[in-house]
Amino acid sequence: MTTLTLYAESAPSQALLRTRDGAAITQHLNQLGVRFERWPIRPLPEGADAATVLATYAPEVRQLQQERGYLSVDVAGITPDHPERAAMRQKFIEEHTHADDEVRFFVQGQGAFYLHLGDRVHQVVCEAGDLISVPAGTRHWFDMGPSPRFTAIRLFRSPDGWVGHFTGDPLSAAVPRLEADGEVPAHAA
Ligand SMILES: [Fe+2]
Repeated sequence: MTTLTLYAESAPSQALLRTRDGAAITQHLNQLGVRFERWPIRPLPEGADAATVLATYAPEVRQLQQERGYLSVDVAGITPDHPERAAMRQKFIEEHTHADDEVRFFVQGQGAFYLHLGDRVHQVVCEAGDLISVPAGTRHWFDMGPSPRFTAIRLFRSPDGWVGHFTGDPLSAAVPRLEADGEVPAHAA
């Protein structure tokens, strides 16, 4: 279930607030300048390939491209049996920024974005139907969990806009990670 949890930068091991109210999550993120929307889910076979995912969501992809001028689109996904899952989880689990917006539309499974805005970390566990756009330059990280399972459509404006610029801030290690069951503990272990 889509979940928003807030952590204070000064005490990052303990959640300040948690909600699964979709309207409240949308409003909270939109007020921060983060595009977040919940779109209807279309039926998709388990293990659907990229072409099938893009064909299934063609109207949504076309709408986003027309609205925002995204030049390219692809599909990223992982399953819990992926042999490189641990390495793939590590790739963007530390705080970083991008020159371009990071746009993800989740069509299966889930993943957690952590947005470091001001003195708070806003953790958003995204699920199927969730569209999130992390604004360019926003300090953030992403955790797919130890048993990752998700499929997401990615939209890009520039060919190298997705390159991660790592901040070296240790905060990302202090905030609770996504667990195997997709839950996030309220307290750090
Ligand atoms: Fe990122």
